[in-house]
Amino acid sequence: MTSDDSTTGSTSEPSPEALPGDRARHDRDRLALLGTLAAGVAHEINNPLAYTKESIGQAIRELGELAEAMPALRPIIAMLQCARDGTEQAWLIARDVRMFSRKGPGAVGAVDLQRVLDATVRLAHHDVSKHATLEKDYEGIAPVEGSEVGLGQVFLNLVVNALQAIPAGDPGAHRISIRGREELGRVIVEVSDTGTGMPEEVLKHVFDPYFTTKPEGVGTGLGLSITHDIVTSFGGTIRVDSEVGRGTTFTVSLRAMPREALPSSGPPSRMGRVLVVDDDPLVAEAVRLALAAENEVSVASSGAEALAVLSKEEGFDAIFCDLMMPEMDGMRFYDEVSHVAGGVTEVIAFLSGGVDDEATEIFLARTGRPVLEKPFDPEGLREYVRGRVRRDGPLVGR
Ligand SMILES: Nc1ncnc2c1ncn2[C@@H]1O[C@H](COP(=O)(O)OP(=O)(O)OP(=O)(O)O)[C@@H](O)[C@H]1O
Ligand SMILES: [Mg+2]
Repeated sequence: MTSDDSTTGSTSEPSPEALPGDRARHDRDRLALLGTLAAGVAHEINNPLAYTKESIGQAIRELGELAEAMPALRPIIAMLQCARDGTEQAWLIARDVRMFSRKGPGAVGAVDLQRVLDATVRLAHHDVSKHATLEKDYEGIAPVEGSEVGLGQVFLNLVVNALQAIPAGDPGAHRISIRGREELGRVIVEVSDTGTGMPEEVLKHVFDPYFTTKPEGVGTGLGLSITHDIVTSFGGTIRVDSEVGRGTTFTVSLRAMPREALPSSGPPSRMGRVLVVDDDPLVAEAVRLALAAENEVSVASSGAEALAVLSKEEGFDAIFCDLMMPEMDGMRFYDEVSHVAGGVTEVIAFLSGGVDDEATEIFLARTGRPVLEKPFDPEGLREYVRGRVRRDGPLVGR
């Protein structure tokens, strides 16, 4: 039995008879609130984890150098590596929660689908393992057109539906699989389960908003209609095949993108030079630690201190400046720098805990400077600097 977005005639209009409006609204509000709470908790956890991870990494690097002469340090390094791996795991989970609970669809472009599927698996792993054995086969899959947040939601919805279709308790007897392949300029991902399957009356409504067969409190019936809207907004398609008693397969087809469309990686040809301007010493130190292996990093704890550094030193590849600081905030710092002869405003990027006032939004639109959201992803930060260093080429002779 098959249903796809053309045969179900799905529509983005809610069908009120499926759920009374008030309850639907209440459920939706509750979900939105939970999403916001989860994002907030992940945000709070992510910051300390980011600098714990970077500090442990730095300690391992420094002790590693000493261990040549002092072999007794090796067991201590091994313990620290264990601590770093655990922190890394927790940090990845907190980052994934943020990815899945972020508001809005996010920017559309080339997305590393493998990364999105890995994040989905990490997040659902605990629940899936009570219901089924998880199989994945999508290594090396091409990037696709879409947004990371949107695609994360799509595959999380499909995996959660799959596990809800399988009773808990005998994971050895059931399977959920995620497989990816490329076909004529498309990337096809199949999410299959060996769960209950669906009769035709259910199958033809699965993409309808508010259509659910689950008890109150379990399903709102919005998952697949949202999934369908997201996939089609990226120029993709979604279809479903199902057989009662045997299981279900959702097949998502997305536009493949060339690998070069993803932000490039690899080490740049020289050390970068970075200035960090932040009044919070912990954040400044975390940025410094994240970048220290590949860059010379200077730190200033205020706009005035940073201006003093800039009056003496030139050639920074990147200046990371906190938007909100007492006395001179990021916007004023930017204006001050722009007044200095040969001001280097084009290397300024802002660090922010979230922009929600109009004046800042207008300022950012006017200047076109990037904003890196706190808590930053250390690898994203490093990649940003690498991109600037690569683009500007060797410092010598500039
Ligand atoms: N893998 C699946 N196996 C069996 N039935 C499924 C599967 N996926 C979806 N369904 C059926 O489609 C219905 C609609 O799914 P959808 O994801 O839109 O909503 P929901 O899961 O009921 O609620 P929500 O996703 O909003 O929590 C489900 O209630 C279920 O009957
Ligand atoms: Mg669902």
